[in-house]
Amino acid sequence: MKTVLITGCSSGFGLETARYFLDRDWKVIATMRTPREDVLPRSEHLRVLALDVTDSESVRQAVEAAGPIDVLVNNAGIGVMGALEGTSMETAREVFETNTLGTMAMTQAVLPQFRERKAGVIVNVTSSVTLKPLALLSVYTASKAAVNAFTESLALELQPFNVRVSLVLPGRAPETRFGENAQPRMQGGIPEAYAGFAQSVFAGMAQSSAVTRALDVAEAVWRAANDPSCPVRIPAGADAVVLAEAEAR
Ligand SMILES: NC(=O)c1ccc[n+]([C@@H]2O[C@H](COP(=O)([O-])OP(=O)(O)OC[C@H]3O[C@@H](n4cnc5c(N)ncnc54)[C@H](OP(=O)(O)O)[C@@H]3O)[C@@H](O)[C@H]2O)c1
Repeated sequence: MKTVLITGCSSGFGLETARYFLDRDWKVIATMRTPREDVLPRSEHLRVLALDVTDSESVRQAVEAAGPIDVLVNNAGIGVMGALEGTSMETAREVFETNTLGTMAMTQAVLPQFRERKAGVIVNVTSSVTLKPLALLSVYTASKAAVNAFTESLALELQPFNVRVSLVLPGRAPETRFGENAQPRMQGGIPEAYAGFAQSVFAGMAQSSAVTRALDVAEAVWRAANDPSCPVRIPAGADAVVLAEAEAR
């Protein structure tokens, strides 16, 4: 029986992915900043561990407590939307600490066991915003585009050790807590000079009907974990697939 460790399982894509792997007889180590057993079905194959990906001691403790794993899913992430002028450097650092450096720290922590065993898969959840630039998302997009570049370089470096690294690029998923969780970072994010422009951007977003479901992301992570012939980049969700096809053309 294989074991997956997933970051950010308290809600959204991480929670759905944990359920998906449990349903398919994997051992799941569901990690959360504030551990809660009750969000997932009871199972002898489930362990819930505390993990804050921005805290090096927390990363060390969680990886040690987890023991041997076969797949790491770097899903934990935070969002921010607003003009760059309305985004403090403190917020930009917070976004990069979680989305970018948190992914690197977790990857670094599991690599010794993967390299020694000559087996293992790392799946990094980024975003379809990296496929087509969108206004008012410069900091968030940069944090995720950095993970794309990191992953594609790392994939080459780890080939000699039979360790695979994949990217899952979800589209916009209103069903998760992502937007709500981003709100505190967005106060003052639209300075007066940008108000009219921002209104037209928000109106455009409200019109797009294709969205991503948490299930689409769980399926894409499952494919990345189990199909050695899958491409490094896997779009997840109807909107992400359209963007990936447009980019390929
Ligand atoms: N929803 C979208 O539209 C969308 C689209 C494309 C990509 N994504 C990406 O998909 C991933 C999952 O997002 P989601 O939509 O499922 O959002 P979500 O419901 O807000 O879930 C995000 C998860 O990340 C956790 N997290 C935040 N900071 C963390 C930290 N420092 N250490 C550990 N865990 C942390 C949160 O835990 P807490 O409960 O402790 O805050 C939560 O479990 C993120 O990487 C996001 O950037 C989302």
